[in-house]
Amino acid sequence: MKIALTGIKPTGIPHIGNYLGAIKPALELSQTCEARYFIADYHALNSCKDPAEIRRMTLEIAAAWLASGLDPSKVLFYKQSLVPQTFELLTLLLAFTPKGLMNRAHAYKAILQSNSESGRDPDDGVNMGLYTYPVLMAADILLFDTDFVPVGNDQFQHVEMAVDIAQSVNFTYGRDCFKLPQPIATEHSKTLLGLDGRKMSKSYGNTIPMFATEKELRKLVMRIITNSQSVEEPKDPETCTVFSLYRNFAEPDQIQELRDRYLAGGMGWGHAKQELFEAMNAQLAPLRERYSELMAHPQDITRHLEEGSARARELAERKIKFLREIIGMD
Ligand code: TRP
Repeated sequence: MKIALTGIKPTGIPHIGNYLGAIKPALELSQTCEARYFIADYHALNSCKDPAEIRRMTLEIAAAWLASGLDPSKVLFYKQSLVPQTFELLTLLLAFTPKGLMNRAHAYKAILQSNSESGRDPDDGVNMGLYTYPVLMAADILLFDTDFVPVGNDQFQHVEMAVDIAQSVNFTYGRDCFKLPQPIATEHSKTLLGLDGRKMSKSYGNTIPMFATEKELRKLVMRIITNSQSVEEPKDPETCTVFSLYRNFAEPDQIQELRDRYLAGGMGWGHAKQELFEAMNAQLAPLRERYSELMAHPQDITRHLEEGSARARELAERKIKFLREIIGMD
């Protein structure tokens, strides 16, 4: 069986963009692959230095995955910081990573650009963890002989860098020290829209939390921005935020039915929003219930992560031993 691996950075509360764009597709992939999904807490350290916040986000993100159906007896579910072999591999890989490769990383380049636009020093606010972020990610991936990396499009470049680095090691020692991973797109071709009609993103503050209560969810859905067309007017489903969300939560025949009602006219926005709320709530209610049960017993969540991490350490240790021999450090 092929190995699928992905990391989840514990930042921000999980919203339905994370659910539809990352959690759900990764769990689908875990049906046909040997899956290794972990909390990338050291990746969060670059931007978050509040220990209570790191702990809280780690628990919440882990609970979100478990509530969404991740079965820790089938998926290797662990915490990056509990697998220290990752950091030994990071050191090894650094010696094979051209500095110029890091200079080309989109995330780093975006910071340089925004610094230069606002007249600051180009490297203002850039720590070395952020600069070498793609190498730590390569260590996460290469440590576990990963075939597939399910990620959003913004992470493709990082996976390609992992391939470059792996090839350099393989070439140097003339053998297949590492498998070459392949990124798998998890995002829909159509971007998920947020409350204001822009792409749903934490940075726009337009997200719908995965575990909003029923009342909060209804309130948020009713707040979605629509145009000022009257009830009578026929409406265009293709340009409507409510409809674009609805197609992610309803069944195909329900989607067709609502599309017909849009085109026929005589339906107000309140009605469309009510349909959306009901479809979302039907899918999210069972998750919400499991989530609050999990969060009521955080020690169970921690135990899952600790057990998974112990198994991950065994696999990782074998890989590190193999590599130490190759590089002459046995
Ligand atoms: N960088 C990824 C993100 O921000 C998280 C991540 C860390 C990751 N390590 C990884 C994803 C390894 C895939 C594989 O979303």
